[in-house]
Amino acid sequence: MAKLNILRYPDPRLHTVAKPVQAVDARIHQLVGDMLESMYDADGVGLAATQVDVHERVIVIDTSDARDDPRVLINPELVATSEEMTLADEGCLSVPLIYDKVPRHAKVTVRSLDREGKQQEFEAEGLLAICVQHEMDHLMGKVFVEYLSQLKRDRIKTKMLKKAREDA
Ligand code: NI
Repeated sequence: MAKLNILRYPDPRLHTVAKPVQAVDARIHQLVGDMLESMYDADGVGLAATQVDVHERVIVIDTSDARDDPRVLINPELVATSEEMTLADEGCLSVPLIYDKVPRHAKVTVRSLDREGKQQEFEAEGLLAICVQHEMDHLMGKVFVEYLSQLKRDRIKTKMLKKAREDA
């Protein structure tokens, strides 16, 4: 396994729409392993392939406190969403140190393939539901800051570009 480079907002590649995975093969297994390693290393609860510049519909998530319950979602789709919404602070490995509130469905039912290519379906609420929606947005080329006002987004963009210059 290898740690992957995580794209930072406002990198335009984060706005790429991912394509469905055609076959859950050795290449996808390698990608999933690398994404899990990268997510754990960065102390994140979720990572979408888009963030590591691979534009296929693959997500890894671990919302457990013990960090020992990895979930792999390949070609995920929401088959049901609650009318009830929830508003919680979100962060993103592609937008480090920025946290803000985003409206999300409080409950969702997700269908996807697992890392072996078998179909799975589960209901999620709380942090897991938020995380699934956040990561699925990435696959559509959407970063959570795009839910915020233009003013906030411009400030975040400026901050991120300044940090990138400092890190370079
Ligand atoms: Ni994110």
